[in-house]
Amino acid sequence: MIHTITAPRRLRGVISLPGDKSISHRAVLLNAVATGEATVTNFLAGADCLSTIACVQALGVHVERHADTVRVYGAGLRSLREPVDVLNCGNSGTTLRLLAGMLAGQEGLFAVLTGDASLRSRPQRRIVVPLRALGASLDGRDQGDRAPLAVRGARLHGGAYELPIASAQVKSALLLAALFGDGSLTLTGRTDGRDHTERMLAAMGSAIIVDGPTIRLTPPDRPDTLQPLSLRVPGDPSSAAFWWVAAAIHPDAELTTTGVCLNPTRTGALDALRAMGAQIEVTNQRTEGGEPVGDVTVRSSQLHGTVIEGALIPRLIDELPVLALAATCAGGETIIRDAQELRVKETDRIATVAAGLSALGAAVEPTEDGMIIAGGDNLRGATLDSHGDHRLAMTWAIAGLVATGEITLHGAEAVEVSYPEFWHVLRQIGE
Ligand code: S3P
Repeated sequence: MIHTITAPRRLRGVISLPGDKSISHRAVLLNAVATGEATVTNFLAGADCLSTIACVQALGVHVERHADTVRVYGAGLRSLREPVDVLNCGNSGTTLRLLAGMLAGQEGLFAVLTGDASLRSRPQRRIVVPLRALGASLDGRDQGDRAPLAVRGARLHGGAYELPIASAQVKSALLLAALFGDGSLTLTGRTDGRDHTERMLAAMGSAIIVDGPTIRLTPPDRPDTLQPLSLRVPGDPSSAAFWWVAAAIHPDAELTTTGVCLNPTRTGALDALRAMGAQIEVTNQRTEGGEPVGDVTVRSSQLHGTVIEGALIPRLIDELPVLALAATCAGGETIIRDAQELRVKETDRIATVAAGLSALGAAVEPTEDGMIIAGGDNLRGATLDSHGDHRLAMTWAIAGLVATGEITLHGAEAVEVSYPEFWHVLRQIGE
């Protein structure tokens, strides 16, 4: 699908966000092995989370969905059935990695996890190696590094693992596997990725203790001990970030995003934008679904360059494409480093973002672990491609709100993965 985007004179609007993608996945996966019925509202009905629903249904769990309300009828930790076909995770790394962890401890159950070409090209040894250390039997192409992954559920034991990369998907895969083990699991190292799994497990009555960077989970001794958790999924800060950047870089803008998840493991984009001089106001702070939530208003701003690095990176990893766009409009240089994980996302986002920004006339130098953006650019029109990457599609659409010429975007349908209403909202806010 091709979309063309031209710059509107003004941007105004109050935007209620789709549910957070990470929390939507977890709400289905964890409730699928709880005992009882849970209702999840403001569920993100994007392609990734629909893949998760289809997979748990194929594992014999009864799940109903009406628009953004999902009912999950969990039948306990040992209730999953062997699927009769491969489990298709589509474009979703979270579905594949978290399910691999959950299935590793289902004794005797055989399952094959696969996905689209992008997902099949992404590294899996990061979960395969530590899951095997817990006793899991799983393998895949390229010596276990690429999907399709085949899992034969085994009796798992506890243990300790030091996470070498700040990946919430790896951390969550191990915690989900440990639920089915016969001993405690202790995680240390880079446990600083998003903590939604830990919060949800605790709210469901699981014996999980988080002490600074150390996480310890003790599996329940009965299969019916995980309580179902009904919740309203907070708005996705990774989706909100497109509107924050749009408002900050457009000369006449004021946009409010309501009900945004403000979990500190997810608010790095707000910190980076503040450091760049963005005018940001956070109001109406509250708690929803066990997560801090608030409304965020951003107005036209004079941005300046910054350095985005270190512990900030996992807190804004999915927002880096659109933050790089913001940096092209800022005065002075922006340096992004320590972000080598960008190379193994839905696309190699260091290469694809740098190429797209260059096509828009920006001076960008890709590096091994990030990029250097000169800043102060007037972006021009261009023909760009999403390469099937939802966050690239939305980044190029936001570029079209400030570029001097028209942007023609190929592969615009990629937004379906995480933000199906994106094009509708974009049309509404332009005046
Ligand atoms: C996610 C974790 C992050 C993030 C992804 C969603 C999750 O990936 O980029 O979009 O829901 O756990 P990594 O675990 O690979 O860092």
